[in-house]
Amino acid sequence: MNLSTANHHIPLNDGNSIPIIGLGTYSDPRPHVPGKTFIAVKTAIDEGYRHIDGAYVYRNEHEVGEAIREKVAEGKVKREEIFYCGKLWSTDHDPEMVRPALERTLQTLKLDYIDLYIIEMPMAFKPGEEFYPTDENGRVIYHKSNLCATWEVECHPYFTQTKLLKFCQQHDIVIVAYSPLGTCRNPLWVNVSSPPLLKDELLTLLGKKYNKTQAQIVLRFDIQRGLVVIPKSTTPERIKENFQIFDFSLTEEEMKDIEALNKNERFVEMLMWSDHPEYPFHDEY
Ligand code: A2P
Repeated sequence: MNLSTANHHIPLNDGNSIPIIGLGTYSDPRPHVPGKTFIAVKTAIDEGYRHIDGAYVYRNEHEVGEAIREKVAEGKVKREEIFYCGKLWSTDHDPEMVRPALERTLQTLKLDYIDLYIIEMPMAFKPGEEFYPTDENGRVIYHKSNLCATWEVECHPYFTQTKLLKFCQQHDIVIVAYSPLGTCRNPLWVNVSSPPLLKDELLTLLGKKYNKTQAQIVLRFDIQRGLVVIPKSTTPERIKENFQIFDFSLTEEEMKDIEALNKNERFVEMLMWSDHPEYPFHDEY
């Protein structure tokens, strides 16, 4: 695989292709600063990112669409050069709700199409206006759904998913690794019992060797394994940094050493919904 900033697409079975690095645009709505995602997406496109990962539930999809449209209008990119992945939220799992939900995403983005639409989580919640419908005890109200669909996969050096990756490679399935940097460590939804990935000693050592940051070592490790990565950042310097991963490569031994960091521990455990009948992480993948 010859990856570069100008061409870093992985071919897909249907003739399309996916850029191996995308900008994650998850935004915690509480401290969410309006306009931050708009700047982040524009910075990313200027820097060479051609893949943006977003969702209606992030409540900033309108900013993502506006940034893409502005860059297209400027002539910086053509729409068809951008790969946008949107997500179906848990309150819209009933089959008749999928199309309207997708159309709402298109209206929010003000785009004619998106390139990929995936199920955000396999656990359905009660349909309605509320993203997190709750009962009188403040518990999220679950909903029965019939799920036979794709599932995004957390993947990074502390959770290497070797078995799943092997299976997918055997079947020509491309994995998109979410939380490749180990998340923002918000204890409300992240398992913070594992130490911060980006402070890891080995990653720090390798960073020194290659004059790269720990984040760049992690992302390079992932793409050398054939994974698509979607690091989230709204910090322009980090957005740039995370894209500078095509000018060095890790040796086979270093790849093995990083793989050995695996702890089989998820950062995104979603334990608050572990009693949902479709909770996905009781099963081994
Ligand atoms: P920020 O958006 O403030 O830059 P993940 O993609 O694994 O979910 O990680 C996202 C978290 O990592 C965010 O908190 C983001 O913060 C932070 N982050 C993104 N890029 C880097 C980087 N290059 N170095 C350190 N932290 C980063």
